Amino acid sequence: MQTIVQRADGDAIRQAARLLLAGEVVGIPTETVYGLAANALSETAVRKIFAAKGRPQDNPLISHIASLDMLPMVVRDVPECAYRLAEAFWPGPLTIILPRARQLADAVCAGLDTASVRMPGHPAARAVIEAAGVPLAAPSANLSGSPSPTTSADVLSDMDGRIPLILDGGACGVGVESTVLSLAGDEPLLLRPGYITAEQLEQTLGCRVALSPAVLNPLKQGETAASPGMKYKHYAPKAEIILLKGPLAAYKAYITEHRAERVYALCFSGEEKALDCPCVTYGRADSPEEQARELFSALRELDTRGARVAYARCPERQGVAMAVYNRLLRAAAFRVVEVS
Ligand code: TXA
Ligand code: MG
Repeated sequence: MQTIVQRADGDAIRQAARLLLAGEVVGIPTETVYGLAANALSETAVRKIFAAKGRPQDNPLISHIASLDMLPMVVRDVPECAYRLAEAFWPGPLTIILPRARQLADAVCAGLDTASVRMPGHPAARAVIEAAGVPLAAPSANLSGSPSPTTSADVLSDMDGRIPLILDGGACGVGVESTVLSLAGDEPLLLRPGYITAEQLEQTLGCRVALSPAVLNPLKQGETAASPGMKYKHYAPKAEIILLKGPLAAYKAYITEHRAERVYALCFSGEEKALDCPCVTYGRADSPEEQARELFSALRELDTRGARVAYARCPERQGVAMAVYNRLLRAAAFRVVEVS
């Protein structure tokens, strides 16, 4: 199959909608990361997403809607607090989990009785959903296990020959995947941190939001994940990532001591001047938003440059930085070294 990349203008959006309604998979831009979209109401279309990504069958997909009118096609028993969250954060990078609607394709839910839904902030994403007239199931458009794609070129490098069309909507503004909040249990539970922070959610909900232990810890053997995606190795480039937790001076000293061929520093922008090894940067130390926007492209660049090992500077854990920390921790397979 030949894969075409097209700027997301009116014609391309109509073509994408035609392909989607014919049961094909299309790469689409969103404000978080690029998605691999298919008609969420069609079993055969959704199965093609799993095939294109090499995604495990038990990992459910997020359905994307363009307006609240589409919500009943994805979920049911929507509580009042979900509408408050929608009012505050949609369109935008928040995914909500609720009991699933019957008409949703079973493959979207991967055997669960819940479904996840969000209204993306990127206008091209909403235009495609609207033109197709159905909710679109879309995971991140990377091969399963690789860093999520934040440009159409990233999508092409993973999906070339596997899907017919990629819409180019520019580089993603947020850069990490949406915040995932479950409202399907007794209390709101944060399954994946993102640009919308736990503090923001608590403010809108007027109650505490619990943090799933899987956000910061590896699953123990035999444990079942609240969010199946969290049990898989994720966001990992080919290079071995090791997080160094501690001040810049200690980081520098550690790297000097461990210098070797194809060993890289994955540091904050500006710090590369002080380091005597090859460096890839991921945003300024004082800007978690910039770190989020640049992290996945930095991980991909390490592979392009043939890095064997990369020692990463450790992000904070407050606010948006929690999302960056969560992704890096997984890219590093939880390898953290304290330096001082
Ligand atoms: O920003 C995003 O959310 C991007 C863009 C394309 O919208 N999508 C994305 O999808 O990151 P994906 O499939 O890469 O991640 C979805 C995560 C997975 O960890 C999955 O296990 C979890 O959400 N998830 C989806 N539905 C769920 C459900 N019903 N219950 C628990 N977890 C669910
Ligand atoms: Mg993903």
